[in-house]
Amino acid sequence: LDNGLMRTPPMGWLAWERFRCDIDCQNDPKNCISEVLFRDMADRLAEDGWRELGYVYVNIDDCWASKDRDSNGRLQADPKRFPSGIPNLASYIHDRGLKLGIYGDMGTLTCGGYPGTPLDKITIDAQTFADWKVDMLKFDGCYSNATEQEQGYPAMSKALNATGRPIGYSCSWPAYQGGLPPKVNYTQLGEICNLWRNYGDIEDSWNSVLSIADWFFNNQDVLQPAAGPGRWNDPDMLVVGDFGLSMDQSRSQMALWAIMAAPLFMSNDLRTISSGARTILQNKVAIGINQDPMGVQGRRLIKEKSGIEVFWRPLSDKASALVFFSRRTDMPYRYQASLGQLNYTTGSYKIYDVFAEREMPTLKDSTNFVVSINPSGVVMWYISAPADQDENTHIGGKLR
Ligand code: DGJ
Repeated sequence: LDNGLMRTPPMGWLAWERFRCDIDCQNDPKNCISEVLFRDMADRLAEDGWRELGYVYVNIDDCWASKDRDSNGRLQADPKRFPSGIPNLASYIHDRGLKLGIYGDMGTLTCGGYPGTPLDKITIDAQTFADWKVDMLKFDGCYSNATEQEQGYPAMSKALNATGRPIGYSCSWPAYQGGLPPKVNYTQLGEICNLWRNYGDIEDSWNSVLSIADWFFNNQDVLQPAAGPGRWNDPDMLVVGDFGLSMDQSRSQMALWAIMAAPLFMSNDLRTISSGARTILQNKVAIGINQDPMGVQGRRLIKEKSGIEVFWRPLSDKASALVFFSRRTDMPYRYQASLGQLNYTTGSYKIYDVFAEREMPTLKDSTNFVVSINPSGVVMWYISAPADQDENTHIGGKLR
């Protein structure tokens, strides 16, 4: 969507995977869906180095609303759990240099059973979100049929635009239509949404992360061209920092989401996150790869019988990223290759190992190398533009 927003994948925090629909503020006051939770996360994003790295969205998901609309037919937040109201929460978040995301549902009810936004409520709800100074809307699709969605998702895009407030627009539409053509029209999605959920919900397990990554790379011929500045495929939240992934698996999710140019919405508890998980999520080079301004989504290059897979993403300034991933379950695997075999052209390349955080010896395209990849882990490289072998190969530069 060309609304000037999200020219690189959006980054921030989203409540759903970690906090779900916990509305029991009596017994679980720190973890229930309430203004306290979102203020706490805003504090952490602002004070623990996240904001400076680009993690700026604080996003509410389902179960924030009151079961009834107000007397003017407007959505309203649950008065017990959001006693200060959403506009106040928005200013708290804006005061800290962050942005607020909210959740709605194209349909009669949200998936959690709260008031949805059927077709005749789209205009009023878009205006309510704009009046509240919300910066992003995730528009879910429970309790609507394909025909209603076909009208509702473009209509909400128009309605948000008509408010005059810049509001990033995340569409769950394709996830409700199987994620693939002919039911899903990615050209249209790129015109009306800034990002879209293509596939099912992530859970806090390696199995879930792996099945999502597999689906996206198995369908890369359809999905990869759909992405670009302002329009992103969304494989769902980062679960790094929760309970289900090992450190190796956490690096794998970070690396694969960076290759996919995926939105980076963490769903974890930033108040108690381990330093190991934080180090992975705050890795500057991994974030830089994810946020590359050229905005070209990466691809899987190779699926080896050994269980090793190689992923590649072209980056601006003729740089690129490679990820070596192991599906093995035995021991670190010594994978041998050369850059030439991985479609690199003649030249010698400067390489930075993203998670080891160190420069590697310069590598010629023809030289064989070995990387040691842990079970369910990755090795991720940032590869600079090649230094020229000879002047004749230098195109477009001063030498020509
Ligand atoms: C389905 C979505 O895919 C999830 O991300 C979450 O928003 C839930 N609905 C909320 O009910």
